[in-house]
Amino acid sequence: MSAGTDPIKLMKQEVGKAAANRVQSGMIVGLGTGSTTAYAIEFIGNRLKSGELKDIIGIPTSFQAEVLAKKHGVPLTTLDAVDHIDIAIDGADEVDPQKNLIKGGGAAHTREKVVDAFADQFIVVVDSGKLVEKLGSTFLLPVEVIPMALAPTLRAIEKLGGKPELREGIRKAGPVITDQGNFVIDVKFNTIENPAELEKALNNIPGVLENGLFVGVADLILVGEVQEGQPVV
Ligand code: 5RP
Repeated sequence: MSAGTDPIKLMKQEVGKAAANRVQSGMIVGLGTGSTTAYAIEFIGNRLKSGELKDIIGIPTSFQAEVLAKKHGVPLTTLDAVDHIDIAIDGADEVDPQKNLIKGGGAAHTREKVVDAFADQFIVVVDSGKLVEKLGSTFLLPVEVIPMALAPTLRAIEKLGGKPELREGIRKAGPVITDQGNFVIDVKFNTIENPAELEKALNNIPGVLENGLFVGVADLILVGEVQEGQPVV
């Protein structure tokens, strides 16, 4: 996947590379989802091919990550087969000053939370536009819901003060379906004052599988920027 000359893509590539460079031989690596992590997966594959890195095994957070890992020659396993993950690399849609995140722009936050939270070190790869003072200011909060529970879940989310909207696919041809076969509701909250409380309250609604608030999970945030046309991490 070439970033060409697009400065934003080049910056994502640099952030992805910076994260991939932290992977060492013998590690079990959580492989995140999204356009920034895609560069990290590609670069891990390149390091394996060149022989610089050996005996890596990846745990994908989505079908997308799985396909990319296979394409770039990164061997894969499942959570059943390991007792820890050394490092997870994943993107985010918003990051606050406490390193809390909103994720799920790619509808993969449920598996991402399982893998990222299980990792000894979770590295987040973002561009500076994702940094916010308060979560919810620029991005709607994704909530994965079991299809048969859609209507009561929408009502319960409204009672929590959110404005929920079912995520539609390309050209509004129907709802987006997650890797688990569920729907995603995107919720507008005016501001999220207490992410830890909201994360629990949403997950307490029967029918909700997981929401995109990642509180106290991230260890390191790698931030990319374009300065004078050049990518900087
Ligand atoms: C997928 C995610 C992604 O990590 C998030 O949307 C960021 O993606 P990108 O790097 O393409 O901006 O949470 O569910």
